[in-house]
Amino acid sequence: MVVFATSVFLLLAFIYWRTAGFMTAQTDETIEAEIAGLAEQYRGRGINGLITLIRERVSRDPNAKSLYLFTTDDYVKLAGNLKSWPEKARSNSGWINFTLNEKVGWSGPKRQARARVFEVQGGLRLLVGRDVDDLTTLKKLIETAINWGMGITLALALLGGFLMSRSTTRRIEVINNTSRKIMNGHLSLRIPTRGTQDDFDQLADNLNRMLDRIVYLMEGIRHVSDSIAHDLRTPLTRLRNQLESTLMAVDNDEAREQAGRAVAEADQLLATFNALLRIARLETRGNSADMKAISLDLLVSDACELYEALAEDKHQYFEQSMDEEVMIEGDRDLLFQMVSNLIDNAIKYTPEEGEIAVRVRFDGPDAILEVSDSGIGIPDSEKDQVFQRFYRVGKSRSLPGNGLGLSLVSAVTEIHQGAIQLSDHHPGQDHPGLTVQVRLPGLQPDKKRIKTTTVKALPAGGDETPITDSPEGPHAESDASGTTRSA
Ligand SMILES: Nc1ncnc2c1ncn2[C@@H]1O[C@H](COP(=O)(O)OP(=O)(O)OP(=O)(O)O)[C@@H](O)[C@H]1O
Ligand SMILES: [Mg+2]
Repeated sequence: MVVFATSVFLLLAFIYWRTAGFMTAQTDETIEAEIAGLAEQYRGRGINGLITLIRERVSRDPNAKSLYLFTTDDYVKLAGNLKSWPEKARSNSGWINFTLNEKVGWSGPKRQARARVFEVQGGLRLLVGRDVDDLTTLKKLIETAINWGMGITLALALLGGFLMSRSTTRRIEVINNTSRKIMNGHLSLRIPTRGTQDDFDQLADNLNRMLDRIVYLMEGIRHVSDSIAHDLRTPLTRLRNQLESTLMAVDNDEAREQAGRAVAEADQLLATFNALLRIARLETRGNSADMKAISLDLLVSDACELYEALAEDKHQYFEQSMDEEVMIEGDRDLLFQMVSNLIDNAIKYTPEEGEIAVRVRFDGPDAILEVSDSGIGIPDSEKDQVFQRFYRVGKSRSLPGNGLGLSLVSAVTEIHQGAIQLSDHHPGQDHPGLTVQVRLPGLQPDKKRIKTTTVKALPAGGDETPITDSPEGPHAESDASGTTRSA
């Protein structure tokens, strides 16, 4: 817009300079020619000759296009068509522009004039000029035309720039939006093309082909690791069974112990292979899981029951808080596995005497499962990576595990069209802990029936007394979300 407007401005300025400038120069030339004529007369015939010539010229020009005034040094008129010396010409000599205050010839007052003023020998003063009112009007016309022209140019440039950039940004926005979705895990999406084969279409085509290639390579890698797991499972099972038979057959205690350890190792390896295959199967299964309406709070309660003993062994404070009848559509076994993995992690990565909290609640139409702990936490830079298979954070490598638990959680969430978010439970502290939030699309609940149950398990030694309250209950403090924490 700026380049366009500047070019138009320069063009108009050039036209103005060539027209108005040319006309002003022409007026000046005419005045100069008149002065030359008068000077010649003065040289030849003296002052009287000059006065005669001025009178002659005035009488030949009833329109008073040319202006003359010849006066004594105290401005007493000797000849000319102006009555009085213009005020402006008293203080200046040379070229002046002034407004006529009187009626000269046929033309009225208030007209614009341009003149040259000088002193003739002996203190006499001479003014020779032209009525330039027409020229001034023309200049004003051109100026107005230029102003309008600039205005219209700016408006057109703005509109054109807006329309052009809008269509460009729109198409870039489409590409951006799609890439963002793809980065968020929807790897099957592709950037739409218009079929016009313009630059944007070609860009989109290239990006799409690049994505196809990436997916193809990823599939290849996944396929290889899955086939390894699959193909090694049978011989490994055979090996394990043979070891077990050997274990039965030998009498030697040391040999028995070694064989026992080998069987345990083989079991661990098989478990890893099974987990790997399970994840692989989940990922290829897409959304076709065996979905049923289930109540997430009951399912999570069951899982908690299973793990409470484990937390108790580590003297951990285990708290559950559930909204009631948090219905979702899902696969019970998979969800149970997911919740178990999360609670297992929370207990495993939280030191003794730590706190674990499991929460199920509504958030608008969504169901939220939150597992928080006060353990070692995961650094921000690694929060994304822990969902990769076999990824384990440095600090936790000494603890048992394969780094497959969260990969499975992620695959299960994906199947249920949910989302996972990791955050620090106590940000900034030495042990920041971890909160894993899984958001799942809920089945439309009957809002009036939302109740909350809080179960508090005391650290080992304390009795596990379930306390069930409704938000209206006398012993409960309820917060805005309806979740109740027992005092
Ligand atoms: N609650 C948590 N607190 C701190 N770190 C965690 C927590 N949960 C997971 N992690 C980190 O993320 C890594 C991956 O977790 P994931 O559950 O996938 O594997 P794992 O627990 O190591 O092994 P597996 O679950 O297969 O037995 C863990 O090794 C650990 O470093
Ligand atoms: Mg785990």
